[in-house]
Amino acid sequence: LFAGSCDFIFGAQKLGQLPPQTLPEIAFAGRSNVGKSSLVNALTGRKTLARASSQPGRTKQLNFFDLANRLMLVDMPGYGFAKAAKSVKEDWQGMMFDYLRGRPSLRRVMLLLDARIEIKQHDLDAMKLLDRAAVSFQLVLTKCDSVKPTALAQKEEEVLALTKRHPAACPFLSLTSSETGQGIEQLRAELAAFALP
Ligand code: GTP
Ligand code: MG
Repeated sequence: LFAGSCDFIFGAQKLGQLPPQTLPEIAFAGRSNVGKSSLVNALTGRKTLARASSQPGRTKQLNFFDLANRLMLVDMPGYGFAKAAKSVKEDWQGMMFDYLRGRPSLRRVMLLLDARIEIKQHDLDAMKLLDRAAVSFQLVLTKCDSVKPTALAQKEEEVLALTKRHPAACPFLSLTSSETGQGIEQLRAELAAFALP
């Protein structure tokens, strides 16, 4: 799956623009700057496929990447970007919710949490939203390279507790680093399970 082609298909700024649902879809969601675009790049082994940036608010549309005509990866804009205008934040919420509700081809949402940062209300809101929409989501800790093992273990425990509280959450947790490649092979295997033969 990951050895084949991977093409940027489309960037949708409005729901009316979404590409047809010809492939199973996996979306990458999370706060601004959590590392969504970097994770898509690490998974696909392409450094500049999804545009990543140290400036939060980099990804401004739903970006669709076609993996070998077997699976669609969707890099989402981040939420909780403090500097974003209120209208932009509301648009994101509205668009995310509508996308989630109206997208039967969406098989799973990878919900990313920064291992270095506290879990925020926005993250909990996103989980509630996914519960309500009954969309299966998997919690993924990012930037695990930049926390000490004890802090990481603590974080792991905290996030595992969250999976128990959210009915749509997978009962496990992915520990990743797009820098070192930690957890990337494991995540690829999990994604492959959703791909067309
Ligand atoms: P938005 O598109 O703005 O919502 O951000 P994003 O979630 O797509 O984040 P992006 O991938 O652009 O990465 C944000 C910053 O985090 C960049 O400076 C990355 O280099 C950094 N980063 C991403 N992944 C990792 C990681 O695994 N380890 C470390 N140390 N830094 C990372
Ligand atoms: Mg991004």
